[in-house]
Amino acid sequence: MYDFKAQPGSDPAELYRDLRAAADALTADEPDAVANMANVAALLWEFLPDLNWAGFYRVAPAKNGAADELVLGPFVGRPACIRIPFGKGVCGTAAESRATQLVEDVHAFPGHIACDAASRSELVVPVLRAGAVVAVIDLDSPSPARFTPADAAGIEALAALLAERV
Ligand code: SME
Repeated sequence: MYDFKAQPGSDPAELYRDLRAAADALTADEPDAVANMANVAALLWEFLPDLNWAGFYRVAPAKNGAADELVLGPFVGRPACIRIPFGKGVCGTAAESRATQLVEDVHAFPGHIACDAASRSELVVPVLRAGAVVAVIDLDSPSPARFTPADAAGIEALAALLAERV
């Protein structure tokens, strides 16, 4: 049994250090990307308060064999949009620009894709391997402006840890 839990009252840096240590312990010796993404989605859900969705989109071929797009990966939350083209929505913008998207108000983000009507703010961080995007980590919250630059930094460090493991 694994029993990783956030310490109540820990500051963001400490919280993300603990989250990263737990993710490292669970993924270091496991070559299966789906298993690793599934466990990290569960950890994000356990450690981070006030979320309604936490998980991964992976870069994978489009159904018609055309250019790659984002395809739904392991997550916790309500069933979500399966395929997102690069450049579309918050996730596709993060993938195309290879840059973190911290969105305080999803209704103000042009082209935001509403998978869960409860979402009010969102943080999407690309996972880069040798400079190329292989996945994005997507967090949604029902609260406006739930995510801060400290959350972005914490998830970016997690994405760096996972670069070779997802
Ligand atoms: N809101 C995202 C779509 C994915 S769901 O939030 C799980 C977007 O605009 O790309």
